[in-house]
Amino acid sequence: MAAENQPQAVVFVIFGAGGDLAWRKLIPALYQLLADRWLPERFAVIGLGHAHADEAELRRRFRQGVDQFSRQGPVADAAWELFSSHLSFLAAELDRPQTYTDLAGKLAALDQEWDARAQRVFYLAVPPQMIEAIVRELGRARLARDRSRARVVVEKPFGRDLSSARALNRTLTQVFEESQIFRIDHYLGKETVQNLLALRFANTLFEPLWNRGYIDHVQITVAESDGVGTRGHYYDHTGALRDMVQNHLLQILCLIAMEPPVSFTPEEVRNKKAEVLRALRPLPAEQVERFAVRGQYGAGWLEGEPVAGYRAEPRVASDSHTETFAAVKFYVDNWRWQGVPFYLRTGKRLPARISEVSLQFKPVPHQTFPPEAFLDPRPNRLIVAIQPEEGILLRFVSKSPGPAMRLAPVLMQFYYREAFRTPSPEAYETLLLDVMRGDATLFMRADQAEAAWQALAPLLEAWEAVKPVDFPNYPAGTWGPEAAEALLAQDGRSWVMPTFLECQMCPEELALCRVRVAPG
Ligand code: BG6
Repeated sequence: MAAENQPQAVVFVIFGAGGDLAWRKLIPALYQLLADRWLPERFAVIGLGHAHADEAELRRRFRQGVDQFSRQGPVADAAWELFSSHLSFLAAELDRPQTYTDLAGKLAALDQEWDARAQRVFYLAVPPQMIEAIVRELGRARLARDRSRARVVVEKPFGRDLSSARALNRTLTQVFEESQIFRIDHYLGKETVQNLLALRFANTLFEPLWNRGYIDHVQITVAESDGVGTRGHYYDHTGALRDMVQNHLLQILCLIAMEPPVSFTPEEVRNKKAEVLRALRPLPAEQVERFAVRGQYGAGWLEGEPVAGYRAEPRVASDSHTETFAAVKFYVDNWRWQGVPFYLRTGKRLPARISEVSLQFKPVPHQTFPPEAFLDPRPNRLIVAIQPEEGILLRFVSKSPGPAMRLAPVLMQFYYREAFRTPSPEAYETLLLDVMRGDATLFMRADQAEAAWQALAPLLEAWEAVKPVDFPNYPAGTWGPEAAEALLAQDGRSWVMPTFLECQMCPEELALCRVRVAPG
């Protein structure tokens, strides 16, 4: 980071410090940023939690979170003590005005002690129903007034439909200006997701092919092998469409489909992404089943172990109709993408944790070689591997060694871990630093959040109106319901096996298909 962007003094206020997010993501990310010297010396974290929360217990929990979840793993005592010296707590009821008077006093005292006007980040790691009260009280305590230094971060879910998202935007903008509001989607902080921008707009190579003339279709898969774990209560009121598609998957779609921005500035990039959302063809309310499939996992097997079905998970209704799998087909109605389907799928308890984007190219316009020359007639494909492997892979056809003209697919592979020696930062590290720097490029603007809900509205309504009769309809450890296959089969296509898995299963004799990209 350039020195001029480095905040000179920062206070990070976490509302909901006792919650899961602070423990798993925020504190480990802040710890890592401090350890890697991204944070100024004048840096403080104030955790706001329940009045009855025990500070010593919270500190212990934070340290355990850093040990377990930070990128560097367990921390040494001295490093923890250093980080811990930046931490303080305010036991508080979040809807009481006194809390905000106390907070304002604490913030003013820090400014005085540091002789600085610190950046103030108010991070709302709280359930959505608490946001309104907190924002209102921040406003009343005049903590939002200074536009150059007060910022608010709002976690997903950003509403649960278009009207609640609009209401939330109204609540926020009554107190904060849009430039102060950071709606976080942690997928946008992932290195490989950001790299989509570099791949597309820092290379001449791909752009000429990046359109309906060459691309047959796009698939975006975000698969998780985990179930809902301890989040049953939240998830059972949310489902895969709201939890993953409205945000993470549609944001990836935007990065794939957007037009080249004039410059890499927040508004330029966000304008181009918003255009994609506005161009999504409305899903026909009467025929959503031709465009979308939902599923719920039943009991099954994962990595040789039996796992319970969704309805048997803690804090999930035993007759739940919540979807744990969603697949949706979108069209982007503009010149570049007319007629090119974007297939999105996500689900819990799928066979592996794998996120991947696959762009499949059209067949060659004229076949020079006879059909028998093709040992394996697989189409050209560009794959962006998001996780767990991070990289970009290109599959094309090559002559297989030997006297005859035999053609086989080969895979050119670039992996971050091989090309760059430095480990990728966690998404939250990148995003928290961006908030402190006031860089909103990777955050959702109000219009984007609303447009994403609008795109899903017909589906949300149709699925709510008609309860599924076949749930659970896929066993844990499989790639979702059969209807998901049919969704693509009706177009004469099929879901691709994520390349990382395909490579693991690749027979020895085909291992030569791997062409490495040398570092540098
Ligand atoms: C969160 C969802 O936004 O993303 C979770 O609420 C999901 O349900 C998680 O498990 C997946 O994130 P990642 O980074 O592990 O792919």
